[in-house]
Amino acid sequence: MRIDRLIVRYGDVTALDIDGLVLERGTSYAVIGANGCGKSTLVRCIAGVLAPTSGAVVPDPGDRVRYMPQRSYAFYGSTRANVLLGADAVPEAAGRAEELMKALDLSALAQQKAKRLSGGQTARMALARTLVGPGTWLLLDEPTAALDGESMLKAERLVREYRERHNAGVVFITHSLKQAARVSDMLVFMEGGRIVEMGQTKQLLDRPRTPSLARFLELFGS
Ligand SMILES: Nc1ncnc2c1ncn2[C@@H]1O[C@H](COP(=O)(O)OP(=O)(O)OP(=O)(O)O)[C@@H](O)[C@H]1O
Ligand SMILES: [Mg+2]
Repeated sequence: MRIDRLIVRYGDVTALDIDGLVLERGTSYAVIGANGCGKSTLVRCIAGVLAPTSGAVVPDPGDRVRYMPQRSYAFYGSTRANVLLGADAVPEAAGRAEELMKALDLSALAQQKAKRLSGGQTARMALARTLVGPGTWLLLDEPTAALDGESMLKAERLVREYRERHNAGVVFITHSLKQAARVSDMLVFMEGGRIVEMGQTKQLLDRPRTPSLARFLELFGS
């Protein structure tokens, strides 16, 4: 998909200002940058839940995005019902929901009211809801921020499997450079609503080209 001259303004604040960006299906992009730099705003535009002030996100034919917002939401009903909210009316969805709940240690909580889940359990449920149906893009806004270490690795594995199964593209927002290295091929570094640097993750983490990213990595490393 393609992003053309995307601008999001809130009054005087420019939250997002991206000239042009091409995202290739089958590739995993980690988006990093400080709080408020525009990461969520970018994926919200791609997901179509936020209309930009100007510019456009131009999907490829057949593109279908699946979006996990930064704040995981529990709707009324059971954990299982919440996971199935993300499903189409396809027959395999029920089985897939059970599979995902098992993989994310939610099976024992399947019948429980979703609003009673803990923060991390709610995030795991939201991830299962995102992965339960087919799509060509996964947009994941800090999907593991609330997860314990073991759950985080399980979540990463499920995302990788989803990507392989659907040849999906992944946009994965994270504050962890180690996670970015594990989950992505390409790194996107944002600052002040702009993409300051983008390139192969391993290369950029080893040899940032801009002083901004070098400074950011240095702060992170300490
Ligand atoms: N609805 C809104 N109204 C006004 N300003 C907003 C709104 N949503 C976001 N912003 C501002 O836009 C900027 C970008 O926000 P965004 O949520 O994209 O940041 P982020 O990079 O995801 O940060 P974080 O790491 O904290 O999640 C911030 O300065 C934020 O205050
Ligand atoms: Mg955010």
